Amino acid sequence: MTKQRLNLGVIGAGMIGKVHARNLAFYIPTANLLMIADINEQAARETAEHCHIPKAVKDYHEILANPEIDAVVICSSSNTHAQIIGEAAEAGKHIFCEKPIDYSLKKIDQALSLVEKHGVKLQIGFNRRFDPDFARVRWAVASGEIGEPHLLHIISRDPEPPTPEYVKTSGGIFMDMTIHDFDMARYLIGKEVVEIYAAGGVRIDPEIGKAGDLDTALILLKFEDGTLGTIDNSEKADVWI
Ligand SMILES: NC(=O)c1ccc[n+]([C@@H]2O[C@H](COP(=O)([O-])OP(=O)(O)OC[C@H]3O[C@@H](n4cnc5c(N)ncnc54)[C@H](O)[C@@H]3O)[C@@H](O)[C@H]2O)c1
Repeated sequence: MTKQRLNLGVIGAGMIGKVHARNLAFYIPTANLLMIADINEQAARETAEHCHIPKAVKDYHEILANPEIDAVVICSSSNTHAQIIGEAAEAGKHIFCEKPIDYSLKKIDQALSLVEKHGVKLQIGFNRRFDPDFARVRWAVASGEIGEPHLLHIISRDPEPPTPEYVKTSGGIFMDMTIHDFDMARYLIGKEVVEIYAAGGVRIDPEIGKAGDLDTALILLKFEDGTLGTIDNSEKADVWI
């Protein structure tokens, strides 16, 4: 018999962890959010209170050890994802994990092989694929409505650069921000990228540069079928209201 509701635990109660906790608690009737964990226990407790989650803990291993939990939603800092994916797979939990899996291909492969070995489901948080506007563009390409694409242009902005503190674990602009555009490029064209060139700069916040990251970038892509693409990134989009 198919279960009516999925018992879930959220790991990480920061900005995006709160978004997922709220969605799971209030908008998805088939989700049953039982636990939330954050090394910042107060953040876990506050989110638990706001979202009526029965248990808040500091150590995510308590979620993995709970036999009632079917699946975990990993929203902790990017440098923790590969480790937690591997441990969750070993604990037999299905996994939704925010992007990126890691910055090292070796660690990504290790995490994915544990997922495969333990036969659990894994989804990564590439949310744009589920946006009706992007899906319509993909349909226009896949159905042939616009003919054969020769050029792809993606212009992508964040409202403001991250804090230098966030940059310490984010993996940098390409792993943190452009990753969504890389996903869109592959999704929209439906082909793999075989060549890539990039240039980046610090044009917005010198503190980002001091933290070892970039805030502005241009990327050139060549797809396997010869389609060419550009991604134009800036971490600042002024809003005039
Ligand atoms: N898909 C998207 O559009 C999207 C948007 C924002 C963030 N993200 C991703 O979500 C992740 C979190 O981003 P954020 O903006 O919420 O960051 P954040 O800094 O606001 O929150 C991260 C939280 O993780 C907690 N944490 C760190 N290590 C932990 C551990 N070992 N166990 C439990 N909790 C731990 C921190 O205490 C913090 O509360 C990042 O990987 C980011 O790339 C994805």
